[in-house]
Amino acid sequence: MRAGIPAESRPAERRVAGVPDTVTTLVAAGLAVDVQAGAGAHAHATDEAYRAAGAEVTADHPAGRAEVVLSVQPTEHVDRLREGDVTISFLQPSTELDHVRALRDRGVTAFSLDLLPRVTRAQTADALSSQALVAGYRAVLTAAERLPRFLPMFTTAAGTVPPAKVLVLGAGVAGLQAIATARRLGAVVEAYDVRKAAAEEVRSLGARFLELDLETQTGVYASQQSEDTLARQRELIADRVAASDVVISTAAIPGRKAPVLVTTDMLKAMPAGSVVVDLAAESGGNVTGSVPGEEIRVGDVLLYGAKNMPSTMPAHASRLYARNVANLLLLMTRDGEVRPDLSDEVLDGCCLTHQGEVRHAPTRELL
Ligand SMILES: NC(=O)c1ccc[n+]([C@@H]2O[C@H](COP(=O)([O-])OP(=O)(O)OC[C@H]3O[C@@H](n4cnc5c(N)ncnc54)[C@H](O)[C@@H]3O)[C@@H](O)[C@H]2O)c1
Repeated sequence: MRAGIPAESRPAERRVAGVPDTVTTLVAAGLAVDVQAGAGAHAHATDEAYRAAGAEVTADHPAGRAEVVLSVQPTEHVDRLREGDVTISFLQPSTELDHVRALRDRGVTAFSLDLLPRVTRAQTADALSSQALVAGYRAVLTAAERLPRFLPMFTTAAGTVPPAKVLVLGAGVAGLQAIATARRLGAVVEAYDVRKAAAEEVRSLGARFLELDLETQTGVYASQQSEDTLARQRELIADRVAASDVVISTAAIPGRKAPVLVTTDMLKAMPAGSVVVDLAAESGGNVTGSVPGEEIRVGDVLLYGAKNMPSTMPAHASRLYARNVANLLLLMTRDGEVRPDLSDEVLDGCCLTHQGEVRHAPTRELL
């Protein structure tokens, strides 16, 4: 069978779903691979490198020729997909309902890495984690670049510069990477998460975990908190926000709008020149007023609303994402044939549409 990797067409999407290294893997698994010319340009993967890895470089989008289309964003060429074709992408079902309907109506078997179960067997395909890692790292660099101060401490003949104080809200994959990056740059870091298990992980990275007089959660994912609890949380972290030069917020509840943790008044209490990066801006925002893709001034504080952060580092984000995609595809490939077995819990969990049906119940309810 033939797998195809398109050049991503959405504005500002600079990643690609296959790199020469993963093309080699797919070819070794018995697949023919088409790569649209220029697909890897932003990730610095040339057409020549794809050819050397065994791909055929095509002028057109692979949909309609390849039986399997691998992309980052849902393919914009859904009208060329045929019944029984397979796609793997990072389609976010709740915000892409038109695509879901089109995939269902065309009888496409569509997998979304956004739905991948977080079980051990699926770890090598866990694109939520690989891309969150990139986002957490970039968030700190974004803040450091905009901060009119150093992150590390310096002792110089001209005097001593104290280290910057960084507060990370939400210590999942992105938050932990933000903590690690800020620590490497020499900042003093504090962090908070509603999940009890996060405390140990935060401390193991050399940061202080904020112990708040609030109920903690024990699940793998955070569950929604009441507005009263969130109000109390905002009250309890207000003085820590006011003491920070940088706040990186990453708090999220799967399938829900992000909780508001920082209000405009809290921003205004921060030192002049402080920077806040809201990684949750696209899912509603942890910070009042944050707009995805925009930097706004609130008093003398810069509020950066993150938008597709992984795409700002396309080479490594693509390399990790492409490996995740290839690993998921290999789970359904035998002797060059892609035949998903939907009794497999990993494939079952992330299969969005199949044979004219939407298999993901929460998405079905939204339609
Ligand atoms: N393969 C695996 O088993 C696997 C892989 C990756 C992550 N995980 C686990 O999945 C979980 C979620 O990770 P994620 O990075 O996808 O999280 P996420 O992006 O869903 O949320 C980010 C963080 O925000 C936190 N949060 C939510 N509300 C908050 C609030 N009001 N205040 C402070 N923090 C708040 C969450 O607890 C979470 O740690 C973690 O427990 C992680 O260890 C498991």
